[in-house]
Amino acid sequence: MTTPIYYVNDVPHIGHAYTTVIADALARWHRLMGEEVMFLTGTDEHGLKVERSAEEAGRTAQQQADLHSERFRAAWDLLDISYDDYIRTTEPRHHVAVQALLTKIKEEGHIYVDTYAGHYCVGCEAYYNDDELGEDLACPIHKRPVEWLEEENWFFRLSAFADQLTEWLSNDTSVVPKGKRSEALGIVKQGLDDVSISRSSLTWGVKVPWDQDQVFYVWYDALINYATAVGYGLDDGRFNTWWPNVHHIVGKDILRFHCVYWPAMLMAAGLTPPQQVAVHGYLLVGGEKMSKTGLTQISPADLVGDFGVDGVRYQFLRGQSFGPDSDFSHEQMVTRYNSDLANSLGNLLSRVTTVVAKKCEGAGPAPRPDSPLAELSAEAVRIASQHWAEPNPPLALEAAINLVRDTNAFLEANEPWKMEPGDDLDAVMGDALETLRIVSVLVCPAIPESAADIWTRIGLPGRPDEATVPADLAWGGYPGGLEVAKGAPLFPRISA
Ligand code: MSP
Repeated sequence: MTTPIYYVNDVPHIGHAYTTVIADALARWHRLMGEEVMFLTGTDEHGLKVERSAEEAGRTAQQQADLHSERFRAAWDLLDISYDDYIRTTEPRHHVAVQALLTKIKEEGHIYVDTYAGHYCVGCEAYYNDDELGEDLACPIHKRPVEWLEEENWFFRLSAFADQLTEWLSNDTSVVPKGKRSEALGIVKQGLDDVSISRSSLTWGVKVPWDQDQVFYVWYDALINYATAVGYGLDDGRFNTWWPNVHHIVGKDILRFHCVYWPAMLMAAGLTPPQQVAVHGYLLVGGEKMSKTGLTQISPADLVGDFGVDGVRYQFLRGQSFGPDSDFSHEQMVTRYNSDLANSLGNLLSRVTTVVAKKCEGAGPAPRPDSPLAELSAEAVRIASQHWAEPNPPLALEAAINLVRDTNAFLEANEPWKMEPGDDLDAVMGDALETLRIVSVLVCPAIPESAADIWTRIGLPGRPDEATVPADLAWGGYPGGLEVAKGAPLFPRISA
């Protein structure tokens, strides 16, 4: 499971955090499924953009990379990102892999030398055709004029892979959601030009091993990070145990690189393309994509101060649909937090622990095998599991929170707070405790610490992320007789 690797010219903002939290939740879901997961993130440290931002800041490119790479790592540590490896493209292992993979592609006859001339946007680190540019030759993404670049470069014969790419893209799990797969197919159908993969005007990059005057263009170095991290060029045995079972999570801005160029490079090297590329839309603030120059930049740490780590993670996973662009706002985040976390999940936990303390002497009863909640729970598990796998985190979480709402409604209908021992009190409370157990597992990829807190408060040993799915999601796992603790509100309400 991979995130894109982030450019070190920028500080982490919530757009980066959005991708990373999604990938983290998916990695956690696959671990729950008992799969062996290697979750990779890191930083993209070469190229003109980084070199220039370092100059502007009065640092060397390496100093700039060191500083910002650490900032990304700190942001991910703050957000409880469970990465197994943090790759930096300036590491020697990555230089080895890039040189090995591109040498292999050259040996296969898919790399040649030619002259390149074209309009280049440093912000995107990409060439544009004239018809893609706006007025005054402005980059469609950065809205700033592009530059004219002309030089002798090494080229990758992308045009030779159109048929193979079309075949890969006709498999409906290669790129998801469907609309993004159609977009990738559209790019291939429009016709593919060969692409320049090296630069002679730049030194901050991985050296072309057969031409000491050139470095690889940053994108062809960056994409290979996914292969580096599993041992390409250094440990074939390790590489072959992981490849091609790779799931990339990327934003739509880099669809072309991940769904066209990268699979073609792999094919050219005789390797299998990725198992899946999942592409999400932008998080917009006031209708604009966040950027370094935009006024809308918000840091993840600011939000954590207001909503807590899990409050922020939950918003990214539940508050935005997966695929389309969607607006992000503080108001909407408060509403979502209060309705799902404070008033539904937090409220359920508080009701259950209060009644068990008052009326069951603090010991949680066991659920009924034929509880009216059993079927609702099985349905929620089915829907959530399907959407975690798709991946579609907002729908997975919606299913889990619906089960919480149903359980709250069940308590309101039964009013256990008015019951006396001997009534159906134990049965009702046992059923509610069991849905809390099941919900903790369903939501732990999204809100790991809160889920663990619920688990502990209802007396269960270990953590929900140690559960095995689907076995541990079957109704009836809460054993009864456990000590239930009433604690402080798990998600205190936030006023707008
Ligand atoms: N370095 C390249 C990726 C190389 S991967 C081999 C790059 N880096 S980036 O730092 O500019 O952005 C990476 C990713 O951050 C985007 O693809 C996207 O996933 C995420 N986002 C950045 N801004 C975003 C939003 N406003 N909204 C959602 N995601 C955004 O591109």
